[in-house]
Amino acid sequence: MVKHDIKDISLAKKGQLRIEWAAQEMPVLRIITERFRKEKPLKGFTLSACLHVTTETANLMETLKAGGAEVVLCASNPLSTQDDVAASLVKFSNIPVFAIKGEDNKTYYRHINDVLSSKPHMTMDDGADLVSTLHTTKKDMLSNIIGGTEETTTGVIRLRAMAEKGVLKYPIIAVNDAYTKYLFDNRYGTGQSTIDGIMRATNRLIAGSVFIVSGYGWCGKGIAMRAKGMGARVIITEANPLRALEAIMDGFEAMPVKEAAQIGDIFVTATGDVDVISKECFSIMKDGAILANSGHFNVEISIDALKKISKKRRMIRDFVEEFTLKNNRRLYLLGEGRLINLASAEGHPSAVMDMSFANQALCAEYMAKNFRKLEKKVYSVPEDIDRKIAFMKLRAMGIQIDTLTKDQKNYLESWEMGT
Ligand SMILES: NC(=O)c1ccc[n+]([C@@H]2O[C@H](COP(=O)([O-])OP(=O)(O)OC[C@H]3O[C@@H](n4cnc5c(N)ncnc54)[C@H](O)[C@@H]3O)[C@@H](O)[C@H]2O)c1
Repeated sequence: MVKHDIKDISLAKKGQLRIEWAAQEMPVLRIITERFRKEKPLKGFTLSACLHVTTETANLMETLKAGGAEVVLCASNPLSTQDDVAASLVKFSNIPVFAIKGEDNKTYYRHINDVLSSKPHMTMDDGADLVSTLHTTKKDMLSNIIGGTEETTTGVIRLRAMAEKGVLKYPIIAVNDAYTKYLFDNRYGTGQSTIDGIMRATNRLIAGSVFIVSGYGWCGKGIAMRAKGMGARVIITEANPLRALEAIMDGFEAMPVKEAAQIGDIFVTATGDVDVISKECFSIMKDGAILANSGHFNVEISIDALKKISKKRRMIRDFVEEFTLKNNRRLYLLGEGRLINLASAEGHPSAVMDMSFANQALCAEYMAKNFRKLEKKVYSVPEDIDRKIAFMKLRAMGIQIDTLTKDQKNYLESWEMGT
């Protein structure tokens, strides 16, 4: 059997069936896999991936393997791994996997080093942990790397910061910034799966609750839209005036987080920022308030401060920790403040990951073909890849759209024609 560090290999059959279930909702990735199987565009490349180990990721790993790549996988979050999926990938797909749900930070970073020991030519990150490890403690391996891709907003922000400072040592394609990624994955994917995660963890009624969403970016918009649809009174907290204005015109309320803290029943952060819900907020919250995060890192809720002002802590349900404050109010932190849609639910629905991971597969192919021409910068997903994926998704859904006539094309490209 291939190298691995997973929870339990006997879970493999269950994982295999769940991977097959997800595949049914991933027609775009299926088409790409079939082409990759014939053309082998990734032959000769070893690819280290650090992604949430889910059924959809398993399908992406199969696509990359069909394309001829040697693939090695670790988790991009200590709490997001689906242990049955990890087992299936090892047992039935011969893909080395290093990921265990609930692993501590030390194990998490050991697993990152395990995938890097495969001496990759390409990295595929969700949160830039492979890139940052390579640029800090594994600099000797950088010369072997031709390029990489990045899945999420937080990772892209970090990589752009590295590129601006001139320290990024290989080209990266920002998969997150494709329209066929963030407009759908961040909005509809995070929207649905975050609510799913909160409901699975708490079984609380959303209807009639005061639901606070911090951050009205692509993820926040999706979460707010779905919470409203379920009957919550949704309040947005924002730091960007444009986004706050947009929230107001979309029909939500907006106010500073310290005002919202006094009235919220359920709080969700999706900002990519630190200490969004901080110590001052906890002490004025209602008894029973629920705290969840859907941003990439577990830094959006000030957990250390919460621990400090609590006199008692206990796990009351799976993924629900009760903090009793010195004022006797109880606050409930979900999934250790880690992205709740992956901690207590299964992450985004497969149909949406179909597009995100089609971008990953086609960008890996693009990198393999074009790396010699690319600089040590962060690149957008090529427009033709983005459009092709939208087109393939529509076609898979059985939806036709109009084609511009020659006259329409000319009109849209001209500046002379007026009324
Ligand atoms: N849970 C998931 O599965 C999932 C999926 C995609 C992205 N993400 C992560 O979610 C986070 C948000 O992603 P996005 O694409 O929505 O980003 P975005 O940049 O579109 O939106 C973030 C918003 O948060 C606001 N913000 C920043 N600091 C704030 C503060 N202190 N208080 C209030 N608002 C603040 C910004 O003004 C911005 O409007 C990132 O960390 C991203 O990596 C998670």
